[in-house]
Amino acid sequence: MKKLFVKTYGCQMNAYDSAKMADLLAPLGYAATDVPEGADMVILNTCHIRERAAEKVYSELGRLKQMKAAKAKDGGQMLLAVAGCVAQAEGQEIVARAPQVDLVVGPQSYHRLPEMIARAARSQGHVLETDFPALEKFDSLNAPQSSGISAFLTVQEGCDKFCTFCVVPYTRGSEHSRPPQAIVTEARQLAEKGAREIVLLGQNVNAYDCDGWGLAKLCEAIGEIEGIKRIRYTTSHPRDMGDDLIAAHGGNPKLMPYLHLPVQSGSDAVLEAMNRQHKADDYRRLVERIRAARSDIALTSDFIVGFPGESDADFEATLGLVRDIGYATAFSFKYSKRPGTPASTMRKQIPEDVKAARLDALQKLLLSQQYAFDDSQVGKVLPVLFEKTARETGQIMGRTPYLQPVHVKTDAAHISQVADVRIERRTANSLHGVLA
Ligand code: SAH
Ligand code: SF4
Ligand code: F3S
Repeated sequence: MKKLFVKTYGCQMNAYDSAKMADLLAPLGYAATDVPEGADMVILNTCHIRERAAEKVYSELGRLKQMKAAKAKDGGQMLLAVAGCVAQAEGQEIVARAPQVDLVVGPQSYHRLPEMIARAARSQGHVLETDFPALEKFDSLNAPQSSGISAFLTVQEGCDKFCTFCVVPYTRGSEHSRPPQAIVTEARQLAEKGAREIVLLGQNVNAYDCDGWGLAKLCEAIGEIEGIKRIRYTTSHPRDMGDDLIAAHGGNPKLMPYLHLPVQSGSDAVLEAMNRQHKADDYRRLVERIRAARSDIALTSDFIVGFPGESDADFEATLGLVRDIGYATAFSFKYSKRPGTPASTMRKQIPEDVKAARLDALQKLLLSQQYAFDDSQVGKVLPVLFEKTARETGQIMGRTPYLQPVHVKTDAAHISQVADVRIERRTANSLHGVLA
């Protein structure tokens, strides 16, 4: 057996791709290992969304260069591959800056890895694949070899929205939905391998549209698969939240009442400069309609602070929107200039210290909402899907419908099942309870 080490950065779609790459290399004799030392092949599955994410890759490549040299000294070979969004965006630059890299493969071309490995072994040169043959990719991937209790399943890729700050339309290409039959088949295979929850993935997952199927219909079909108890989907764009999907939150009991609906900013001027194509009040009204369909739905979001031109009043409007909506949890980031995007050349870039102060203020507010939301669950009975044994012996860990981790002292036989849990207390990152 050869050893394969895959390191994943970035979003859930990268995590899905990493699993697919491992499945693809298994027939070639590669088995996964969780340390890079001594591996026969190392894949860095990279993210380009913010500057820091991309820079991490180059420092990791520096460390791997030494491991690769050590392996060569012992007469072995370590193949080094860079996959993901940095590969797509900076393929040529990677081989120039890091000549120790053997393979560069974009997110739409990784199905060609087996053939690329053969070419790299023959030529000893760099092999680069960054085309966009999206249709071909999914057809050439293997059935899942294994599955966790909660499994990712990519249903839609790419983005046509071109928000002015974002690299995704350039790294992942244009919006493309997979055929529903292929998705349902994959969900069934995952269920057979032990999945009880399916998380449908897409850069704009609620824009899913293929053969007359939207996301609501897809969720319904997946909900009928034996063994599947829960369905989630992420990430959604406010503009693509259709009536049928909103209605599904009221009508499909397998669809979890938890929705990641990024708004980025609460200021109309900033939303417009970002090219989000909706106003803050459109978002407020949308949330009202979603809550009318499912009153206990919890919301999460992404925010960017310090977008070019963001004034104190704009930032206050973001805080105002957060107060109005009330989030269960949320991600927030300082605006990061990305090469080639329109926002990177906008005048009135915001100084770093202002960005830092705004991020701090926003995160304080979001954290207080998160604690308030978690505290509101104490005393309630919630259905928990148990996923694994916890670090503390005698305990198992599962998740509420709202994705909160819950620790319960009970038998490991409950793993992979949903059971009612009375929530007794909250610690910083987890809830604790007893079987009800
Ligand atoms: N498709 C999703 C987002 C995908 S990227 C959507 O439209 O909401 C994930 C998150 O990264 C974004 O929601 C945004 O908050 C953040 N992000 C993207 N580009 C960024 C940049 N240049 N600087 C800082 N944060 C960024
Ligand atoms: Fe990026 Fe905007 Fe597309 Fe989301 S919708 S992936 S933020 S361009
Ligand atoms: Fe990053 Fe690419 Fe995902 S840039 S967030 S890995 S789509």
